[in-house]
Amino acid sequence: MRVLLTGAAGFIGSHIRHIMEAAGHEVVAIDLMLTAAHGPAVNPPEGVERIDIRVPAALDNQLTGIDVVCHQAAVVGAGVSAQDAPAYASHNDLGTAVLLAAMTRAGCRRLVLASSMVVYGEGLYCTSGFESRVPAPRIRADLDRGFFEHRDPQTGEALGWEPVGEDTPVRPRSLYAASKVAQEHYAAAWATATESAVTALRYHNVYGDGMPRDTPYSGVAALFRSALAAGQSPRVFEDGCQMRDFVHVRDIAAANLAAAERPMQGFVALNIASGRPIAIGEVARLLAAAHSGPDPVVTGEYRPGDVRHIVASPERAHQLLGFTASIGPEPGLAEFAHSPLRATAGAGAPAW
Ligand code: UD1
Repeated sequence: MRVLLTGAAGFIGSHIRHIMEAAGHEVVAIDLMLTAAHGPAVNPPEGVERIDIRVPAALDNQLTGIDVVCHQAAVVGAGVSAQDAPAYASHNDLGTAVLLAAMTRAGCRRLVLASSMVVYGEGLYCTSGFESRVPAPRIRADLDRGFFEHRDPQTGEALGWEPVGEDTPVRPRSLYAASKVAQEHYAAAWATATESAVTALRYHNVYGDGMPRDTPYSGVAALFRSALAAGQSPRVFEDGCQMRDFVHVRDIAAANLAAAERPMQGFVALNIASGRPIAIGEVARLLAAAHSGPDPVVTGEYRPGDVRHIVASPERAHQLLGFTASIGPEPGLAEFAHSPLRATAGAGAPAW
């Protein structure tokens, strides 16, 4: 197959390019080389062309003979301030809209879209005897006294978590999440209007070699890993019992390869996760142990915007894509403790 890969020079895109080429596919690799991701004045890696997907004519040239587009280019992170909103809207949403229009002109009808678990917002919660529910935001008084769980509105008891399936309604809570939901909606509408196929891969917490170093836009794995590299303790917020699913970037690449090779009907969203939930405190402990210290510190601090637990059901990706993650959190995080990170010196806020 001939695959157009956007964001090909990024953390995830680089791994996808590698696995696609190893599988014998021809990859047309493009990347804008955003300063926020790559630092100022960095040339694209060999074989990657600097293309702004928001420029229709530039895309038209790249789409000739393409069988499937694998769309990874995006501004990531959660957003630091409202000043980031135009960058998310411009790169993620306008970029996707321009890409879909260009794909239609070129007769390309298949898209694999990088989406995220952030589209769900909070995870799902349950107590015995109650149905699954998405709870109201946690109250500050609870957080201030060190009670971090959601409460059952009737009994006041702590709610337990359960895995989120793809039919759970989307509830974006950050600028980035809003832009990912909009990308999915544009892609779904395009699939219907043009009888095309979209597989949206909702990545859970991705980590692995080549991950960008810590910035205000980084996820927790990069922050813990960067702290250890600097000889400092990972700082674990809340009580460290908040649950996530950490999926290795090589598994993310494998899921993209499977999605590119297996066309589906219409718009299909799939959780891409390891299937082995892990507490944030345990992530810090595993990384610190593999790095030979220093030990993590559980600070009890909290960030008001954080969700408590978000854990995926990986079932549908297994059924529809035949995808099962091969790297569990223990070996994956032990490897990541020594993996090279990507420099982001001078990166700062994303420009649009
Ligand atoms: C993260 C990303 C999100 C991405 C998603 C899936 C950010 C800010 N969030 O969401 O964009 O789509 O993964 O890959 O990039 N924590 C600490 N210590 C720290 C920092 C955070 O304990 O130094 C805790 C937080 O309080 C939270 C957990 O770690 O409970 C995860 O934080 P983070 O990775 O920032 O956000 P996610 O909600 O998992």
